[in-house]
Order: sequence, then C-alpha cells, then structure tokens
Amino acid sequence: MYIVVTKNLVKHFNKGQVKAVDGLDLKIKTGEIYAFIGANGSGKSTTISMLSGYLYPTSGSIKIMDYDVPKDRKKVSRYIGIAPQDYSLYNDLTVRENIEFFAKLFSMKKKEITIRIDELLKILNLENKRDTIADELSGGMKRRLSIACALVHSPPIVLFDEATVGVDPVLRAYFWDYFRKLRDEGKTILITSHVMDEAERADRIGLIRAGKLIDEGTPEELKQRHNVASIEEVFIKLSGGEYIDE
Ligand SMILES: Nc1ncnc2c1ncn2[C@@H]1O[C@H](COP(=O)(O)OP(=O)(O)O)[C@@H](O)[C@H]1O
Ligand SMILES: [Mg+2]
Repeated sequence: MYIVVTKNLVKHFNKGQVKAVDGLDLKIKTGEIYAFIGANGSGKSTTISMLSGYLYPTSGSIKIMDYDVPKDRKKVSRYIGIAPQDYSLYNDLTVRENIEFFAKLFSMKKKEITIRIDELLKILNLENKRDTIADELSGGMKRRLSIACALVHSPPIVLFDEATVGVDPVLRAYFWDYFRKLRDEGKTILITSHVMDEAERADRIGLIRAGKLIDEGTPEELKQRHNVASIEEVFIKLSGGEYIDE
C-alpha cells in the first residue's frame, strides 16, 4: 500500500549546525498525489535529493517499493522520475536532445525513444520548440521540458520539486490536470511546494516545518481538524505565530 516510506530520516549539514531534515516519517501511498508543503528552507529539496539517492542521509531509512535507498539507488532509479527544483537540463542541447539524453540513461531503444519524445512533446505542448536550445526557453517551458525528461522512461513514481512554482495560472491548472491523469493511470506523485494553496489540489498533504512533519492528511481532514477554511490557515495555526526564516 505504501510505495515510499521514510523512518526517522535525518540530514544535517555543516557538521550538524544545519538540521535540514530532522526525523522525518513519510508514508506515501501507491497511486496518490502527495503534496509536501512547507516554507522555503524547511527541508523539501533535501528530502527529494535523499529519496532519489543523490544525497546520503545522516541517519534514518528510506524504502521505495522493495528497495532500500541509498543502498539500492541504481536499481530504484528506473522506477522514479525526478524534476528537480533547479532543473537538470543541458542548456546547450535542444529540447529533443535533452529528452533523448535522459532516455538513453535508461537504455531505451531508438525507436521507443522517438515515439516517446513525440508523445511527451505533444502532451507538454513543446512540439514547436523541438529544435530550440534549452537555454532559450522561458521558465514555464523549461519546467515543462524538465517534466518531460522526468517522465521519459514512464516511471511509476515521480518526484516534482516545486514543479508549479513560477508558472502562470493557466499552465499550473494544466499541470494539475496532467498530474491527476498520471495518478489515474496508477502513478504515484510527490510534489513539493512552498505555496500553500497548491496543496488543496492534492490527495494528501504533508506539512513540513524545520525538517519535521507537523501534520498530515487529506485537505478536508486538515481543515476540519484545525477548524479553518484553508491549508494556509492550518499552517499558520500549527506554526503558533512563530516565523522561521531560511
Ligand atoms: N548543501 C547544503 N549545505 C548546507 N546547507 C544546506 C545545503 N542544502 C540545503 N541546506 C540548508 O538546509 C535547509 C533546507 O533546505 P532545502 O531542503 O533546500 O529546503 P526547501 O527545499 O524546503 O526550501 C536550509 O536551511 C538550507 O539552507
Ligand atoms: Mg526546495
């Protein structure tokens, strides 16, 4: 039932001076859209990096499907797609070449790659940018390309780090429709955001503060539990008026 589980996950930087992730217990269900919501500097990207095996935890454990991360990170990489917050695009490659690069990492066959690229360019409305250098794309287009690269090998789990931040409202709505479609196809989506109202569109929400999960539930559950009308208000209530800055 749970596809991603972390237990007491900790990541310290600078010899323990920075507790970026501080005892995180995440349980993400197969086939849900889980929004991981918290202010800037609360530890979202650090968590994503540990889930993807790029960053070693200071302590604690990560289980993705039947694999232990980071130990089995190579095996698990084909099951996860990651769209990092700061992109991982090659600026001097074209849109098509970028997607192709990621496809080759997963040893996809030439014919399969061609079909998949056409499909993704169509879905993400990048067909007329196929031969444009990534560096020349707008922010929203880079976001779309980054999502295409994450999805090229059709992974069952996708990690989108601030995927909808800085995109216009129309594209954001399109993204959410698309995420739901992926979910309905059985994929599991973990999306982070520091924008609280984004969370309302997810199946479940985990609120993170200073590297800790401070509450979790469906949008309705959270609002009822705290007797407020929005996730933003839930967050403010849980923070007790105390402001933590990055
Ligand atoms: N490589 C690093 N070295 C030192 N501190 C870091 C590093 N990466 C992140 N941090 C710190 O860890 C905390 C959490 O950062 P991050 O995971 O990027 O938060 P978020 O993605 O929620 O904005 C912040 O205080 C940040 O400054
Ligand atoms: Mg971040």
